[in-house]
Amino acid sequence: MEQLNHENHKGQFGSGFGFLMAAVGSAVGLGNLWGFPYKMGANGGFAFLILYLILVVFVGYVIMITELALGRKTGKGVVGAYKALSKKYAFIGWMGAIAPWLILSFYSMLGGYCIKYAVANLGDLFGASWGIGDANSGEYFGAFTSDMVQTVIFSLIFVVLTVLIVRGGVSGGIEKFSTVAMPALFIMLVIVIIRSVTLPGASEGLAFMFKPDWSAFEGTGWITVLAVAGGQMFFSLSLGMSIMIAYGSYLPKDQNLERSALVIPFADTLVAIMAGLATMPAVFASGLEPSQGPGLLFITLQTVFHSMGGFGPFFGFLFYTLVFIAAITSSISLLEGISAVAMDSVIEKGEKPDRKKIVTILGISIAITASLVSLDGLGANGFPQFFGQGCWLDAIDLIAEGILMPLGACYCAIIIPTSLVDEEATLNGARFRTKNFYDFCIKFIAPVMMVLVLLGQLDGFFGLGMFS
Ligand code: PFF
Repeated sequence: MEQLNHENHKGQFGSGFGFLMAAVGSAVGLGNLWGFPYKMGANGGFAFLILYLILVVFVGYVIMITELALGRKTGKGVVGAYKALSKKYAFIGWMGAIAPWLILSFYSMLGGYCIKYAVANLGDLFGASWGIGDANSGEYFGAFTSDMVQTVIFSLIFVVLTVLIVRGGVSGGIEKFSTVAMPALFIMLVIVIIRSVTLPGASEGLAFMFKPDWSAFEGTGWITVLAVAGGQMFFSLSLGMSIMIAYGSYLPKDQNLERSALVIPFADTLVAIMAGLATMPAVFASGLEPSQGPGLLFITLQTVFHSMGGFGPFFGFLFYTLVFIAAITSSISLLEGISAVAMDSVIEKGEKPDRKKIVTILGISIAITASLVSLDGLGANGFPQFFGQGCWLDAIDLIAEGILMPLGACYCAIIIPTSLVDEEATLNGARFRTKNFYDFCIKFIAPVMMVLVLLGQLDGFFGLGMFS
């Protein structure tokens, strides 16, 4: 039976651990497993890591605690939460509600790809005809992505699974699933790392990731790196939109806010680095180059598993299952973020929200957009393209990750009173140990960094050459 929060009737996390697993589950996703290692390697390796860590501490942590505090204080989803501050801020809330909806449309497609690849590797394990067999990984991927029926079906399977979990409620669905899934993901990741770093030639991959290359910072290069690292950080920590506000609204008042806000970025960054250790050594050991985008996950890494011989399909199955788990614990948070907004609007009318109905209706809308993005086949099927991007995924990502998220986080830093965070962090007599640090960062560092990130992202996406 779903435990009801008196104020909002939307639900509540049953335990601090459950909340952390759900929040870390939201943060750990495709962004960690493929975005981070590649971006780190391509943007100065260790130099990127240092900048990323600085951003996580000075910007990520402070935005995280601010969003969680706003959610818990107001007990509302993103639109209601900003409206509670002032009616004129409702538009920030709407930006925060649109972004997850956009992200879900491509995230579901990629989640569907993971299911397909986990199943195909399982097929190989049993020598079945539905495995990948000896097919060339690039050709196999190309054939799959342009197979409109299959890609839509796998995306829809992913959407249905997401909807089923979120229909189960905060403690009965999201928390229950994440509490089992996240530790399982961690164990699988450790197994894949052990295999990856013990392959002959693995050290080159470690060098790709960790070799300091300060040349990436030369001239205005640091702004480009900052923008890449900043965009990655917002996406990876699920910040700048509705998720952490909604999860904060389900966090019981007796849980220490500061501790939660520290643990989530720490765990997320740890997993991102671990993901690099799991993938990059294996890529280089196989004599391959890490590619950008979905090609890294589904072509390069599949080639690696194929080259491992007998055990390859086992590691392939394990790896794609792991990526699927990471993706679904993120997609449930995205769907919950929007559902919270819809449930609030019912509550505002004085009625009790029907979670199952709301989640299902929103799920159907996502099934439609996810199918459309899947039909585009990463730009392979000749559909018209937008904003100068090569596929719908990139165009949607440009709006969500490039614009809405940094803008949302920027508003969050400027608008939310520090007194609100202080009040939430010191409930039940808790000490807000990082208060001075927080006050300084939220006033001076976070806004400046976010404007730079926003400019750098726009510059990168539109190829304006502002910083070259
Ligand atoms: N943080 C997830 C990842 O790294 O893949 C993606 C994500 C989930 C982004 C939830 C935003 C969000 F609100």
